[in-house]
Amino acid sequence: MRHQDIFSRLWDEYIKFNPSVKKVYDLFTANGEKVENDHIAFRTFNDKRINVDKLAQVFINAGYEEKADYHFEEKHLYAKHYEHKTEKNLPRVFISELILDKFSDYLNEIVIKKVNSIPNELLNTNELIFLGSAWGIPSFKIYEKLKAESEYAGWLYVMGFRANHFTVNVNALKQINTMEKVNNFLKNNGYVINAVGGEIKGTPQELLEQSSIMSEKIKIQFEEGEFDFPGCFYEFAKRYNDKNGNLFSGFIANSANKIFESTDFNK
Ligand code: NI
Repeated sequence: MRHQDIFSRLWDEYIKFNPSVKKVYDLFTANGEKVENDHIAFRTFNDKRINVDKLAQVFINAGYEEKADYHFEEKHLYAKHYEHKTEKNLPRVFISELILDKFSDYLNEIVIKKVNSIPNELLNTNELIFLGSAWGIPSFKIYEKLKAESEYAGWLYVMGFRANHFTVNVNALKQINTMEKVNNFLKNNGYVINAVGGEIKGTPQELLEQSSIMSEKIKIQFEEGEFDFPGCFYEFAKRYNDKNGNLFSGFIANSANKIFESTDFNK
């Protein structure tokens, strides 16, 4: 699958599912800004059949390569980021996985059962990243039990494989070109900024500043009925040059750690 097709399909799904993110995109473009994409992110479990390396395969096939990895001790997550080998204007891809052996037997049993239910012919294909909740309609009761152990596990159980967020490249914006301006612009338009550890994560010294809006609550069908549920969110990133004048292209684990909380149920 060509990278153009991958990203346009992911974007179409993302805005269809989360109307508020398309409104953010439209707000920026209505202000004369050209919205470029810094990175997209996926979530998964470290079960071998669906782990980071599995989700990455479609991108590797499209010319991407692994660049760096990240550890999130407190949330028991591990992640890698990928970049296209030659086309440097293409978005980075950030894929994280929950480390299952850090969690209860209950959580592990649910995940194994759910992964078992994905047809084999889908597991080893380019389709994996588009499957959404590949394991069928979720149960709100199971969601709550998973969430008690890990917000990430609960969200992933309900939402499955999809772009968890796209990210506006603030370096490419003409007027709204600082993180403060971005956040004020969003707040003035009624959006709630993820304030965990401050609205701006990271500093120019760390070479990356990030912020995100909290996920919009969308209607999700559960076994028990329809519930409001945090969908996907939009992120904003501004990158700085390192000492050698090269634009920093990686991620800061301490900042990403807080961005993960943009899908928390009660925030
Ligand atoms: Ni991100």
